Amino acid sequence: MIFDIDMIKEVYAKFPERVEAARKVTGKPLTLAEKILYAHLWDGQTDKAYTRGKSYVDFAPDRVAMQDATAQMALLQFMQSGRKQAAVPSTVHCDHLIQAKIGADKDLQEAINKSSEVFNFLSSVSDKYGIGFWKPGAGIIHQVVLENYAFPGGMMIGTDSHTVNAGGLGMVAIGVGGADAVDVMAGMPWELKFPKLIGVKLTGKMNGWTASKDVILKVAGILTVKGGTGAIVEYFGEGAKSLSGTGKGTICNMGAEIGATTSTFGYDDAMERYLRATGRAEVADAANGIREHLTGDNEVYANPEEHFDQVIEINLSELEPHINGPFTPDLATPISKMGEVAKENGWPMDVEWGLIGSCTNSSYEDLTRAQSVAQQAVDKKLKTKSDFGINPGSEQVRYTADRDGILKTFEDLDATIFTNACGPCIGQWARTGADKQEKNTIIHSFNRNFAKRADGNPNTHAFVASPEMVAAIAISGRLDFNPLKDTLTNENGEEILLEEPHGIELPEKGFAVEDSGYQEPAEDGSKVEVKVAEGSERLELLTPFEPWDGKNYTGMKLIIKAKGKCTTDHISMAGPWLRFRGHLDNISNNTLTGAVNAFNDKTDSVKNQLTGEYGPVPKVQRAYKAEGIKTIVVGDHNYGEGSSREHAAMQPRHLGMAVVLVKSFARIHETNLKKQGMLGLTFAKEEDYDLIQEDDTFDTVDLDQFAEDKPIHIKITHADGSTDTIKCNHTYNEGQIAWFRAGSALNKIKEDNKK
Ligand code: F3S
Repeated sequence: MIFDIDMIKEVYAKFPERVEAARKVTGKPLTLAEKILYAHLWDGQTDKAYTRGKSYVDFAPDRVAMQDATAQMALLQFMQSGRKQAAVPSTVHCDHLIQAKIGADKDLQEAINKSSEVFNFLSSVSDKYGIGFWKPGAGIIHQVVLENYAFPGGMMIGTDSHTVNAGGLGMVAIGVGGADAVDVMAGMPWELKFPKLIGVKLTGKMNGWTASKDVILKVAGILTVKGGTGAIVEYFGEGAKSLSGTGKGTICNMGAEIGATTSTFGYDDAMERYLRATGRAEVADAANGIREHLTGDNEVYANPEEHFDQVIEINLSELEPHINGPFTPDLATPISKMGEVAKENGWPMDVEWGLIGSCTNSSYEDLTRAQSVAQQAVDKKLKTKSDFGINPGSEQVRYTADRDGILKTFEDLDATIFTNACGPCIGQWARTGADKQEKNTIIHSFNRNFAKRADGNPNTHAFVASPEMVAAIAISGRLDFNPLKDTLTNENGEEILLEEPHGIELPEKGFAVEDSGYQEPAEDGSKVEVKVAEGSERLELLTPFEPWDGKNYTGMKLIIKAKGKCTTDHISMAGPWLRFRGHLDNISNNTLTGAVNAFNDKTDSVKNQLTGEYGPVPKVQRAYKAEGIKTIVVGDHNYGEGSSREHAAMQPRHLGMAVVLVKSFARIHETNLKKQGMLGLTFAKEEDYDLIQEDDTFDTVDLDQFAEDKPIHIKITHADGSTDTIKCNHTYNEGQIAWFRAGSALNKIKEDNKK
């Protein structure tokens, strides 16, 4: 059995009691999101109410999921924790490192040839530490999670922003950085600011060409890409119950596009049907046992304005199909207006590709709805104008769709069936001619459509729509085609109006698969050897960071005084560096190369005080390290904003940067620095930033008395011999000071595990 029924039963056993305790402490009825959050408090003690949007709370998620690109560093770190097994059920999914080019078989083999060392590493670590491993070709992480692991009322984190997809089965599922996954797998609490709550009431029932995708395309248009920030979106109402489990998944998936922490739906019959159809009758039975707790309280849904921070109402009966884009997923245009809007904006009308798939829309139901449109083109002798590409969400979906003749229909239209993987959705698409950078239009059922996202061409106008709408537009080859009223001319010169799509929620003959691509971990992992190829440039086992010797830091040099914005992208760039995410020393060669040096306004050009020459940040830093000289990074406001990428803290630490002193920190980055054993400080007086000169030397004055709530002073010696001593604040608590002493949080866990 792939899923962990005992764990689920354990969660459900405590759920009612914890929900009741939460009602008491909050003194009010509860939304589903609140029930799940309070039922997953780290210490299990529901003894106080938390303030939405303010309180930082420690949680105990039930599961962790990782994709191949982010899992590498997460697992390399986890290996440092000294644990024999992951503390919670966890899985790894190989889906990002597979390029779409010719078609599934060849592309998959090509990816295996190219990235076998990464796949072998992930497979062996998973085997060793009790982690479920999904091989390349097994499917896209979020579809596989929905099919196998998601369960109503559960809480999971995943190292990918669309982890939120599992909200379709009533979870609170949140996308995080690798460091967070390490914490949870290592048995530590996971911290989150208690989210705000947005309620979306769905009334009516979808009909005709409207699909679940249109619900989120509409919501994205209302809330925009920032509107959901820091909030959980909870869908409810009769309309919500009318949607299939995977349709709910689609809606939750694209909650990431409005910045929401996650989205969720209450447990209902559609979820139960999906659980049973995917071989999880036991989970459905267990969920039925506490059914009334797995949805928001009636009083909440009766008076949503009183209980949510914001409420949106959508009548599904009146909802029009939408097409969103280009270049941003929140630019929502109803199909009836698309022709006009596209013309006004000068968007290229000819559609070159129609792509169906991604974690957002690759379920059996999605494929059948798109097929019902595609089959009409075959039957009615319509010539399709655009190229077609399909990425099934999982091997189970692909196998079943193949058995049921669904893929055959697409193949009859000359569609390319790509690997069950992310492919074009993450830019892993070797699209012929993309390098010419011509202005062109494509339409897909994915979630993101930022410039360059699919094919690397900044002039590709990518539009997002439901799979059936993608099929219709691709058949017509026109962005201004409205299948609800426009006709197409077939080979015989007849005018054809496409019939409304119809889908099959769940396969009548049940799901089937020959080889799902799942690899069960070894019963006893102690003998499994982790495979890292000798001399690999992509993978490197980590060496624990040195513990602190308890003394002051003396003779530190300034590595860079960063001016203005310094995000995690400036500290550790993505793009071509992604391939080194599993090799700390190699990826460290991009450290702070995007930061602007306050003394010459240049990036990647800092003074080496030992030679007086200017050079790239990593090179100068390595020169200091070779001499055993520690360095200090000085920064501006909100230093480290952006992603929760742990590399932005690990790389400076690896290169020998010891202190980061800034006007203010982005909170997650500050925590990441603490976890990696760095000293993160803020200027007590912001103006002291101006005192820092290029040739300064720094000594901590009282770091040897490092304690909670006690400022640290730094003596700055300028080139002319004059000195300034400045006061610096920190936010380390006793536990975090213990991390600092040990050299990193992982070192500390390892020490504790030995005891
Ligand atoms: Fe993969 Fe695209 Fe989803 S990259 S995980 S299919 S958002």
